[in-house]
Amino acid sequence: MPDVDDLKESKNYYSDTPQKSEGFFLKGSNSLEWGMKDRLARIFNPVSGNTVMLAFDHGYLMGPTSGLERMDLTIVPLVEHADCIMCTRGALRTVIPPTAGKPVSLRYSSGTTVLTELNDECLMDIEEAVRLNASLLAVMVAVGDRYEATTIRNLTRTVDLGTRFGIPTLGVTAVGKDMARDARYLSMASRVCAENGAHVVKTYFCDDFEKVTSTCPVPIVLAGGKKLPELDALTMAYKAIDQGANGVDMGRNIFQAGDPIAMIQAVKAVVHDRETPEKAFDLYNTLKDEQK
Ligand code: R5P
Repeated sequence: MPDVDDLKESKNYYSDTPQKSEGFFLKGSNSLEWGMKDRLARIFNPVSGNTVMLAFDHGYLMGPTSGLERMDLTIVPLVEHADCIMCTRGALRTVIPPTAGKPVSLRYSSGTTVLTELNDECLMDIEEAVRLNASLLAVMVAVGDRYEATTIRNLTRTVDLGTRFGIPTLGVTAVGKDMARDARYLSMASRVCAENGAHVVKTYFCDDFEKVTSTCPVPIVLAGGKKLPELDALTMAYKAIDQGANGVDMGRNIFQAGDPIAMIQAVKAVVHDRETPEKAFDLYNTLKDEQK
């Protein structure tokens, strides 16, 4: 216990220096509670304002897809290069070392697989997310889909539950088979996520992507989509950042790349340093050669 008998009277008021009241660096996040901001500041780099999130949650709806057959061998070496990892609780508990020290975007909704009809999903317990120290709760939102209402209820419930514990929500725009991946649809889907309380939105690249980012009041991270040639994937990431995205949440274009460790570093150069796609591709090839 501190000695209370000899307390010195404090006079260090620094009256000529007003206490700082700083705004938060992320779009649409200034009114959030301290814990939410702390988690977001671990995901998004406060200097660049952006993030490279490594997504490997595909198994929950696709099974052991190419590159994810042995996540202990293919994903774990990538984790140190990511700003954040996005995965299921199953992957987290079975292969990711708790010493990795990376914020986790936890796949919080779960449901049907590619063998039936996607997006008929439910949510896990919030206690489980707290137990796993999740920094972000990732929920599928299928606007215009048969399961639209279910997924929007899931989003709403997740925002409510996460708010109790200071954990932000990531709305993942799931594009149905009949939906066009264009700016009109993706800006609507992203806006629906944000208006229903999502703190971050993940969506796909499209022509006039600036419409999607500028009409969404919270940060957008780019979903990678199917595997592209490395230069094309870096070009897509560059254009997305240039048009207002706050990072990428990329899976197959990293872990299915010719050299995944070189690729994630090249993606980081684009996302954090605004490196051009050509220079980032040079970096990819240099790092690839070094690792031979
Ligand atoms: C899709 O719902 C999953 O959240 C994937 O993690 C997501 O699509 C990102 O992975 P990819 O870059 O391979 O599309």
